Amino acid sequence: MAGRTRTTKKLAQRIKLDYFKTLHCIPRWRRILSAALTAAGLVWLGWHAVSGNPKPYDAGPVGHSHAMFSQKCGTCHVSGWFRRVATDQACLACHDGPKHHDEQTFAPACWDCHVEHRGALRLASTSTEACTQCHANLAAKDKNSPPKFAANIGGFDGGHPEFAAVRQGHADDPGTVAFNHLKHLKKELRGPHGTVELKCVDCHRPAGANEPLPFGQAQIAPGHRHGEPESCSSSAPPVTGTAPTTLVPASFSPTPFTVPGRAYMAPINYEAHCLACHPLQFDKRIPEPAPHKEPKCVYDFMDGKLREHIAAHPRDIQILDEPDKRLPPRPVPPAPRNDKEWVAQKLANAQILMWRKACKECHTLNWPQGESLPVVAKAAIPVRWLQHANFDHQAHQMVTCTSCHSKTEKSEKTSDVLLPGIQVCRQCHHSGSEAAEARCFECHTYHDWRKENRVNGKFTVPQLIK
Ligand code: HEC
Ligand code: HEC
Ligand code: HEC
Ligand code: HEC
Ligand code: HEC
Ligand code: HEC
Ligand code: HEC
Ligand code: HEC
Ligand code: HEC
Ligand code: HEC
Repeated sequence: MAGRTRTTKKLAQRIKLDYFKTLHCIPRWRRILSAALTAAGLVWLGWHAVSGNPKPYDAGPVGHSHAMFSQKCGTCHVSGWFRRVATDQACLACHDGPKHHDEQTFAPACWDCHVEHRGALRLASTSTEACTQCHANLAAKDKNSPPKFAANIGGFDGGHPEFAAVRQGHADDPGTVAFNHLKHLKKELRGPHGTVELKCVDCHRPAGANEPLPFGQAQIAPGHRHGEPESCSSSAPPVTGTAPTTLVPASFSPTPFTVPGRAYMAPINYEAHCLACHPLQFDKRIPEPAPHKEPKCVYDFMDGKLREHIAAHPRDIQILDEPDKRLPPRPVPPAPRNDKEWVAQKLANAQILMWRKACKECHTLNWPQGESLPVVAKAAIPVRWLQHANFDHQAHQMVTCTSCHSKTEKSEKTSDVLLPGIQVCRQCHHSGSEAAEARCFECHTYHDWRKENRVNGKFTVPQLIK
């Protein structure tokens, strides 16, 4: 009997052999929809493109400084907002980005470091990687001369070298003016009106600080600074780098002493910081101290004052002085017979007092052969120590001076270097969220701004506004 037997043949006949020629509804709609929606999207984008609205292409807000022309995509994207920034030229139309170093082997593109469309950030806050792409394995262009700087810096807390000024074996403080911090910081120091306890800010204050100076006079003697024409009489205030620019003339009373910029400490200055306790008194009859100038000026000043004095007080010629205890013992000279001899004798004493004692306490004096007056060694007090990094005292005013300059209170010699080492900085500047910024840009400049090219603006106002 023919039963309901399932032969393979019968089963096979059930299968439509042209199944692949017809589309089932689900795949069919999938195709239709994806084509239609893509087309709709393209039309929508195209319509915005034609109408000049860049919104759909917006890749996120641009940096704070560029916010004004954030919708003017063409200012950065050379031929339309959908194009990538083609060259650095787009950026250079508005400002220069001078090269970093003559020795660099290649120049990364501007946006390699200044990443856009990441929000209203400061674009100059570049990543550590922007720098370590070279500095982790530094190579110099000149293959024959290896890099002059540490070559494997992976991060501030990884591989960054100790600062050169405090590295073992580095040169001492080059300053030649004698100074003993330990002695001056003791509890009961002899001051002009009784004992005092000096604070760091009595001598060191940020350039630009306006507090009065307790031991100085504001009017600063000109005529002995580097690069300044020699002059004993000029009253113009000296200007040297970050040195004083605005000086309020005044007597010996505390007065403001202003210098520009607050990052670095104003340079030490005799009139501003030492004068009240170390006046250059050269003769007990004459109240004015000698000016703090080149020995020739000091000599002329003393000579002039002594002449004036004896002319006004002719009877002083008969008064024999007690030997000055500050001077080394010397044979008593014969009584002067006239004004000229009187002046010569007093001037000789005053010179010994100045050259052998007063000036010498602070200075190295050299005596060129055949000269009657000494030459004062250049003071050479550094104003800026770290030439390859930036520092700002203002940003650190919340900490005590000695938490960074911890060697100061024990220092007895000028030659001691009192700057902090890298470990001091790393306590606060390290990676992680609860820390001060440790990316390279915080302390370093990338562009060599001395090489900056001036930009002659090419945009009109309407071209930049919405
Ligand atoms: C101040 C300059 C500047 C302006 C203005 C600007 N861009 Fe950009 N844009 C950049 C830089 C730089 C890049 C990254 C470099 C690159 O990818 O070529 C970039 C990248 C892009 C990208 C690529 C996506 C990405 O994140 O890499 C798109 C898309 C884009 N921008 C769209 C726009 C649109 C749309 C506008 C206008 C609304 C605009 N941009 C305005 C500078 C700018
Ligand atoms: C239409 C002019 C214009 C263009 C184009 C332009 N910038 Fe600027 N940029 C400015 C102005 C204006 C400032 C703010 C003034 C200043 O700091 O010089 C600025 C500031 C900056 C700053 C410093 C501010 C910060 O946030 O750190 C950086 C970095 C910068 N631009 C990088 C770039 C780069 C990279 C490009 C190219 C992708 C570019 N700029 C294109 C006008 C422009
Ligand atoms: C290797 C990373 C890097 C590259 C590449 C780079 N910059 Fe910078 N740029 C920085 C850093 C870091 C700063 C902040 C420190 C400084 O001023 O050097 C900065 C600062 C700036 C500033 C702001 C100056 C200010 O007034 O604060 C401008 C403008 C600028 N760069 C433009 C450019 C331009 C234009 C280019 C491309 C030609 C470029 N940069 C390439 C890292 C870079
Ligand atoms: C394209 C490679 C390259 C990049 C990127 C680069 N540097 Fe340099 N850098 C060099 C070279 C090369 C030298 C000089 C080496 C030499 O002369 O021995 C140098 C020197 C330095 C110096 C010491 C000399 C000086 O001028 O003060 C510092 C600091 C420095 N770079 C910081 C940075 C920082 C910060 C960044 C990132 C914003 C950076 N560099 C990105 C190649 C680079
Ligand atoms: C009476 C004035 C005076 C006082 C007060 C004083 N200093 Fe100085 N300081 C100087 C003179 C002068 C120099 C330059 C000569 C030298 O290097 O010793 C100097 C140099 C320095 C230097 C840079 C030189 C180097 O070698 O590192 C530091 C840092 C410094 N002082 C920190 C301090 C601190 C911190 C205090 C307070 C605890 C202080 N000073 C108090 C007069 C003073
Ligand atoms: C508040 C008063 C006061 C001020 C301000 C002051 N000194 Fe003195 N200085 C003294 C006294 C007091 C001594 C003697 C200390 C001793 O021998 O114990 C002295 C001693 C010295 C000595 C000899 C140190 C030694 O080792 O024997 C030098 C050098 C000196 N001061 C330099 C300076 C310089 C430079 C300044 C200005 C930056 C200055 N002083 C500011 C009070 C002062
Ligand atoms: C209490 C210490 C002190 C005494 C005393 C002192 N000086 Fe000075 N002198 C300084 C300091 C600090 C500087 C560096 C800052 C400045 O220019 O005021 C300096 C700088 C100088 C300079 C400039 C050196 C240079 O770098 O070119 C001359 C010149 C000079 N003194 C001459 C004299 C003469 C001359 C005397 C004696 C009549 C004298 N000083 C006494 C502390 C002193
Ligand atoms: C966070 C650490 C830190 C603190 C806090 C600090 N300094 Fe400094 N100081 C430095 C560094 C780093 C330098 C080197 C800067 C340079 O010259 O490049 C310096 C330099 C100096 C110099 C040499 C001249 C100069 O400005 O470069 C003097 C003087 C000085 N400091 C005094 C002080 C006094 C006074 C205080 C307190 C009011 C103080 N410092 C607080 C880190 C610090
Ligand atoms: C007590 C913690 C602390 C120590 C120690 C410290 N810093 Fe800072 N530093 C800060 C803080 C906080 C800021 C400001 C916030 C920031 O930029 O993260 C800052 C800012 C800076 C800046 C940027 C300043 C500006 O305004 O542009 C520099 C550069 C810097 N520090 C260098 C140093 C160096 C170099 C040392 C070591 C000698 C040091 N710091 C030690 C906490 C510290
Ligand atoms: C907290 C401040 C700070 C940070 C962050 C920092 N540096 Fe420095 N760096 C310094 C100081 C200070 C010096 C010493 C400068 C000097 O001796 O003139 C220095 C020195 C250097 C030098 C010269 C080294 C040498 O051989 O003497 C290079 C190169 C350098 N840094 C690169 C970098 C790079 C790359 C980064 C980021 C990974 C970075 N620095 C981060 C403060 C910093």
